Amino acid sequence: CSMLLTVPPGKDGLGIIRDGAFAVSGGRITDAGLSGEILYAHKGCRRIDAGGRLVMPGFVDCHTHLIHGGDRVDEMFLRLSGKSYLEILAAGGGIHSTVAATAAASDEELRASAAERLLRMAAHGTTTVEVKSGYGSDADSEERILRCAGALSGGGGRTETSVLPAVVPTYLGAHSIPPGAGREELLEALTGPALTRMRSRAEFCDVFCEEGAFSLEESRRILTAAAEAGFKLKIHAGQFTAAGGAAMAAELGAASADHLEHLQQGEAAAMAAAGTAGVLLPGVSFFLGSPYADGRALADAGVRVALATDYNTGSCPSYSMPFMISLAVSGCGLNIVEAVRAATTNAAAAICRQEGCGSLVPGMNADFIFLDLERPEEIPYYVGTNPVVKAFRGGIEII
Ligand code: NIG
Ligand code: FE
Repeated sequence: CSMLLTVPPGKDGLGIIRDGAFAVSGGRITDAGLSGEILYAHKGCRRIDAGGRLVMPGFVDCHTHLIHGGDRVDEMFLRLSGKSYLEILAAGGGIHSTVAATAAASDEELRASAAERLLRMAAHGTTTVEVKSGYGSDADSEERILRCAGALSGGGGRTETSVLPAVVPTYLGAHSIPPGAGREELLEALTGPALTRMRSRAEFCDVFCEEGAFSLEESRRILTAAAEAGFKLKIHAGQFTAAGGAAMAAELGAASADHLEHLQQGEAAAMAAAGTAGVLLPGVSFFLGSPYADGRALADAGVRVALATDYNTGSCPSYSMPFMISLAVSGCGLNIVEAVRAATTNAAAAICRQEGCGSLVPGMNADFIFLDLERPEEIPYYVGTNPVVKAFRGGIEII
């Protein structure tokens, strides 16, 4: 290809190789370097010619709420007429309406609609997707969503017709407070034996720490119990208010703290020291018209900054990581190298997969994409367009 970005983990830069190539065997990268050398060393292998396109790791969308019934199109217009996201939530709409629509959908409807969304993400270059539960109302309905996530990643993520992006499931039982719920009973349910059941279906546990959702102390209680049950931790922190969730995530050794539009003094430094990744979700700021997270300050404080769509039906119905790269540059102050790393190797780190995907160096999954562009700066530049022409997962063409 004309330009290969290997995006090596744990280093700076994009690992640019002009006229680069790589070798794939058993679904993994085995060699990468200059085209002439790689072609010589691997004579006799089947060749795929990227035709002068930009080649880079598939995007890792490390924060999504992929599985749900219904949509919230009408809510968008309510917001545009002046109601805020949190007001709609407090009035029983928002997440609550998606919980009801999800309950009304059959298992097959949930699976098929989520598979369709995965294909749309793949078409935008995403090859690995973190998928949260959170639109259930109790342990059984939450477990149903995690079973659906498992079904999407089962069989190598193959449907009858296509290979899907890889799915990494997260249990987000603590997403909304069911109307009329007793707070203490709810917390007991979220910290009780159900956690062990969920742990067999999800690697991460996440909490929505926010006004109108779970307080800092409630979040701590849930995440502490989750860690004891063997989960790795994540948190939705600072989306609307600076409640201290990011610093707590750092203290608990969480893999990531996500959103981060509102931070208290010292939270970024705490995340950097703990190695807790900061996941920016600028599509939400764009869609809700709320402030962007200060990605510049986070990166300058030494935080490993990652990027995701937060795909969900309420606050960001977008499948496009290229669009998130545009917003990370224009809204969050990242430079191009930071934004591309945020969407690939750093996003892999946010789901503890940095040794598996998000880079095209030997040993990594052969998850890569072809973009009809000449250089990485053009990804944010052609804002709102889809430059991805092909995507491969484990060396197999998925779009
Ligand atoms: O990450 N903040 C909470 N959860 C989602 C929104 C979910 C919804 O509105 O349905 C988020 O923005
Ligand atoms: Fe989210």
